[in-house]
Amino acid sequence: MTNIYYFSGTGNTYWSAKKLAARIGSARIFPISREMKQPEIRIRAEAVIFMFPAYAYGTPVMVRRFLEKADVHADYLAALVSYGTSPGGALAEVHAVLARKKLILNYAGRIPAVENFIPIFGAPGEALRTKRLALQSAATEQAAEAILTRANSSMQTFQPLFKIISSLYRLARPAMINFFRLTEACNACGLCAGICPAGAIKMADKGPVFHTACETCQACLNFCPRKAITFGRLGPDTRRYHHPEVTAGELF
Ligand SMILES: Cc1cc2nc3c(=O)[nH]c(=O)nc-3n(C[C@H](O)[C@H](O)[C@H](O)COP(=O)(O)O)c2cc1C
Repeated sequence: MTNIYYFSGTGNTYWSAKKLAARIGSARIFPISREMKQPEIRIRAEAVIFMFPAYAYGTPVMVRRFLEKADVHADYLAALVSYGTSPGGALAEVHAVLARKKLILNYAGRIPAVENFIPIFGAPGEALRTKRLALQSAATEQAAEAILTRANSSMQTFQPLFKIISSLYRLARPAMINFFRLTEACNACGLCAGICPAGAIKMADKGPVFHTACETCQACLNFCPRKAITFGRLGPDTRRYHHPEVTAGELF
């Protein structure tokens, strides 16, 4: 049996995790956000795959904490990073965290996807989106092939520049909730709170209230059916993005 653990904000990683599970067969997928609610995480499987997006050239904070917390026993370990432009040192970071626990990461793979940090980069145009979705599909297929054949890959070390950038991001992250704004379009439907993988949104009478556990994953503002959540320079009229084949319901 293969266990796949994923973290996903806008569905890119989730989509690849689902495809991978279907292709591998006898595989189960688990959201890391749910696993993290357990007092202990005990993983026993023949193969274990960790899947997550690159955040500031590293891993999302919750993914790193999950790797540190989990007690893992498996014959084969793989990590797959989903990214928009460059995953930087995300895989090397996973390798380092696991190595400290005397675990060997057998395979590390990169899955190009659509860039989802739209307050900074804007939503991609149609042509770029189509191209990146095709790349994602092909890379997911390649990763499945590698995992099925129990491929091994060599690992880079976590380079100092990537480490600095991801550390700065982690320091700044709790304060980023100050960039969220609500427009009058919000009808307090609660969808944002339901899909937030960090459990960082609590509903009040007037709508969501953001807490510092926020991973800045962009799920809330991209899935909001009324585009009522804005962030920094992102206005209510700017186009949003989530993986076109993933619904909010699947990420609840
Ligand atoms: C806070 C944040 C930081 C990001 N940093 C990077 C990065 O360093 N490199 C990169 O290529 N993409 C970066 N991205 C883009 C995501 O890694 C990419 O779009 C990923 O596919 C999103 O996966 P998801 O839909 O499963 O959340 C970042 C996105 C966010 C929200």
